Amino acid sequence: MAHLFSPLKIKNVEFKNRIVVSPMCEYSSTDGFANDWHLVHLGAMATGGAGLIITEATAVSPEGRITFADLGIWKDEHLPKLKQIVDFIEQQGCVAGIQLAHAGRKASHTQPWAGGKQIPSDQENGWKTVAPSSIPFKEGTEAPLELDEAGIAKIKADFKAAAQRAIEAGFKVAELHGAHGYLFHQFLSPLSNQRTDEYGGSFENRIRLLLEVTETVQEVWPADYPLFVRISAIDWTEGGWTPEESVRLAAILKDKGVDLIDCSTGGNVIAKIPVGAGYQVQFAEQIKKETGILTGAVGMITNAKQANDIIQTGKADMVFIAREFLRDPHFPLRAAHKLGQEVKWPEQYERAKWH
Ligand SMILES: Cc1cc2nc3c(=O)[nH]c(=O)nc-3n(C[C@H](O)[C@H](O)[C@H](O)COP(=O)(O)O)c2cc1C
Repeated sequence: MAHLFSPLKIKNVEFKNRIVVSPMCEYSSTDGFANDWHLVHLGAMATGGAGLIITEATAVSPEGRITFADLGIWKDEHLPKLKQIVDFIEQQGCVAGIQLAHAGRKASHTQPWAGGKQIPSDQENGWKTVAPSSIPFKEGTEAPLELDEAGIAKIKADFKAAAQRAIEAGFKVAELHGAHGYLFHQFLSPLSNQRTDEYGGSFENRIRLLLEVTETVQEVWPADYPLFVRISAIDWTEGGWTPEESVRLAAILKDKGVDLIDCSTGGNVIAKIPVGAGYQVQFAEQIKKETGILTGAVGMITNAKQANDIIQTGKADMVFIAREFLRDPHFPLRAAHKLGQEVKWPEQYERAKWH
């Protein structure tokens, strides 16, 4: 059997293959609600044979959204449509996961197709952002408010409530978004965290919020369901978060019962990133080798052989694929064909399987 299509069981959840739809913001919600766009978009990739689909960054609070059009899970009214989407995904033999997110200082923006610019807090669809320190993401943007004790307590409570709702919606995997310069990454990196309290300074202090949120989520997240954490393994900037710190963090998260580290990079500061085929796989490999935790590789993984090699050579346990799924929502079915692997197609599509 092609390694890419070997099943994987994490805790009590079984994935039919190693192919994950990486979280992808659609910026298509009103007031955080999922709608038919999300059903069709995610549904197509479920019919396309993915083993796990993780929703886009799903905001745990309105102020945690990147844009006013982000998906959210901060109120019970969000659940019925999410549940419909989860049910459809599961009917296709795929597992539904949710990425729980807070954008911190990178919140209050317009959608990429509207320029992806920060909306000042006094303008329509804008709000005051929060962060570990009052340092703007880039020049010319409004500085965020430094989170105080009550603000940090609210972050923890929001993630806990969101995780509880995610279970009610039927999700079986939760991924905490600790990457791409969003709130947790802002705490991890000394470039964005200059606090002098117990949440800043030393490595132990900078990882504290992510660990506390992990523990808070675990109070409600079932012990037999997988919990993933996405990190940016490197800031690609002198003085920033490093791969060595990522390894240390992964080992601690493993001890706490986190199942998989989804290894992305960058996003916290403007940096020169050496983008190329599979350019982040090395971090998934390093973290897996040095800690023994399961890892996910992501970034410029675009073809069947490349994806299969990553699994076969033990560099990672799952491959997270984003843009290739937008080009071809049925990527796994085509990948199986290329690797000579028999897989079940949806019955409705069987007449297209070979010719
Ligand atoms: C349209 C789009 C939206 C994205 N939104 C998210 C997101 O919500 N959360 C996240 O962690 N990464 C997000 N990403 C990053 C992807 O998950 C992935 O890490 C990145 O695109 C690299 O993988 P790829 O080369 O397969 O596209 C997004 C990427 C794209 C293209």
